Amino acid sequence: MKQKLIYGFAENKGHLTMDGIDVIPLAEQYGTPLIVISENRIRNNIRMLVNAVSSNFENYEIKYAVKANPNPSILSIVKEEGLGIDASSMNEATLAIKLGFKPENILFTPNFAARDELLWASNTGLSINFDSVGQLTQVSGNVPESVSFRIKIDYGKGEFKGTTTSGHNAKFGILEKEAVDAYKMAKKFGARKFGIHVMAGSNVMDPDHFRKVTESVLTVMNNISEHAGIEFDFVDLGGGLGVPYEPDEQPLDLKKVFEIIHTSFKKILGDRPFPRLCIEPGRYVVADSSILIGKVTDVKIQEKKFLGSDISMNTLIRPALYGARHHIVLANKLDNQIKGKYEVVGQICENTDRIGKAVPLPNPEVGDIIAVFDAGAYVASMASNYNGRPIPAEVLISDSGEEIIRSPSTFSDYVRNYIFIGSEKTGLNAGKSS
Ligand code: LLP
Repeated sequence: MKQKLIYGFAENKGHLTMDGIDVIPLAEQYGTPLIVISENRIRNNIRMLVNAVSSNFENYEIKYAVKANPNPSILSIVKEEGLGIDASSMNEATLAIKLGFKPENILFTPNFAARDELLWASNTGLSINFDSVGQLTQVSGNVPESVSFRIKIDYGKGEFKGTTTSGHNAKFGILEKEAVDAYKMAKKFGARKFGIHVMAGSNVMDPDHFRKVTESVLTVMNNISEHAGIEFDFVDLGGGLGVPYEPDEQPLDLKKVFEIIHTSFKKILGDRPFPRLCIEPGRYVVADSSILIGKVTDVKIQEKKFLGSDISMNTLIRPALYGARHHIVLANKLDNQIKGKYEVVGQICENTDRIGKAVPLPNPEVGDIIAVFDAGAYVASMASNYNGRPIPAEVLISDSGEEIIRSPSTFSDYVRNYIFIGSEKTGLNAGKSS
């Protein structure tokens, strides 16, 4: 049996291709580990989303969750496609503003933010999605015109425990029973436009999840309208739209998801006008747009067969952090037969540094190229320099060819911010790259 590919990828003479480009020479050209991104896939993902939402809702807004992947070239594509922004920190919001996103199209959803950051957001004209009543009171004299609260509904579901962001164990949001008073307070402090927000979990493949989330939050919203006399401008259902991480997994039925959300709006709101529907996809926009490629550095046959490569947990932390799985192939041996199952491991001194477990592969040799799929979301954005290992370069494939959009981190980056006592002797300068 040969290795399977994720939908949309192809083979040419045993090599993995992406949008018609052989990825194997890229490893030599740019070095490994390397992230290769397809501009077309990002645009297609956004267009599929817009299509599914707009078939059911007239008044809607899609805000890209920067945390999934903040590469400025990707943000520019997202902007060209007409999306707004979900920002979780001052740096994310500042990046978006510098790239030309308008403050009114940015929803600021920090978690346990310090007062200064909230004041900055308010003074910058962002709409703030408060995570607690305490955070609202910290900026009582500087409340923005548009205010929402993140509601911790009883129900939460993400692919993993660590990516479930509502329900009783979640650190996010205000309790349903706090909501009426929270909105009364926001009104008293001068807010003029109101929204309501929920984010129940990430990478959800079950369309019915979105019914539960929508019905729960709209019920809370109705209660607030009734008891605090507030008209709602928007309902934000957060992110969570899942993508397949394995070749045989069915994609999420987007059309069905938004039909279900529409039915829930009708059920809870009846003939009343619908507030604007907002969603904040991160993963759906970028996950399948990218692959991570690396070089096999060693093969060790013990009671388990270890395939070691330069793709490590500092670059892809999801398997170690959540037990996440990513499909992996030997990208230069797609015409070879699968011969065994390998623990695909990296170069970090941690035994959790495993990128894939029991991965069926042809016989690997040093110098082969491995490709890890679905590397566009929460990969580069969660990467670190742990063990002194670099953060990879990123190459964008578009209709006009390929272009590097992030250089690999270097030794200078690794030591950049250290202020080293005794710098004369070592050549390491205070706060300067060497
Ligand atoms: N909006 C808010 C307020 C969020 O907290 C998140 C993600 C999103 C939108 C985007 O969610 P998405 O569409 O990507 O599911 N690092 C984890 C995912 C954590 C998601 C946290 N919040 C992972 O690698 O699976």
